[in-house]
Amino acid sequence: MSKPKIAIVVGSTRAARFADAPTQWIAKIAKTHADIDVEVVDLRDWPLPFFDEVASSAWAPSQNEVAQRWQKKVAGFDGFIFTAAEYNHAPTAVLKNAIDYAANEWNKKPAGFVGYGSVGGARAVEQLRLIAVELQMAPVKSAVHIAWGDFLAVRQGEKKLEDIEHLNQAAAALVNDVAWWAKVLKAARAADAIAGEAQAA
Ligand SMILES: Cc1cc2nc3c(=O)[nH]c(=O)nc-3n(C[C@H](O)[C@H](O)[C@H](O)COP(=O)(O)O)c2cc1C
Repeated sequence: MSKPKIAIVVGSTRAARFADAPTQWIAKIAKTHADIDVEVVDLRDWPLPFFDEVASSAWAPSQNEVAQRWQKKVAGFDGFIFTAAEYNHAPTAVLKNAIDYAANEWNKKPAGFVGYGSVGGARAVEQLRLIAVELQMAPVKSAVHIAWGDFLAVRQGEKKLEDIEHLNQAAAALVNDVAWWAKVLKAARAADAIAGEAQAA
């Protein structure tokens, strides 16, 4: 079986975003993990409208062309690490919208989070964990929380994320968790598919 493919989903799209720093850092760490392939997926490249379909794509095929391509893109991954900015104690609207624009494609795959903000994006990450459960994902325990002191120091160029040891440790644990669950769930999904084919034959 091929290596699980993990997407690093950039959860903020504004011009002045901080998201690029955690994205590049976590992608570099994830790419050193021997068991997974890693790709950065930037929501800036996915100009989805605000959700405007007759139903979730779990119930009715989406009409929007970007949405159709987005669902295929999500389907191609075996696990996800989301960078999680916190806007008013919640995930960004752009990330929630992108999550809503796929459905079954998220199912039975792990979700990990790199949060940042005053309390390390913890409130946004906790909400994202609940959303992930509704999408039948497996949110992993380990997470990165870049809290205010480190966040400001990195944003002001006083520190680099790669030099902050406790964050490097958290990132390694997060990547390990996502890689483990991605491998296990990929095998389980493949077994389900084989069983389904046998039943249909
Ligand atoms: C609309 C808005 C609301 C925000 N609310 C919070 C918040 O509730 N908690 C927090 O820690 N930071 C909050 N912030 C500050 C963000 O953590 C900070 O701007 C961060 O850089 C956002 O991520 P981004 O730059 O990748 O978009 C907020 C920022 C914006 C723009």
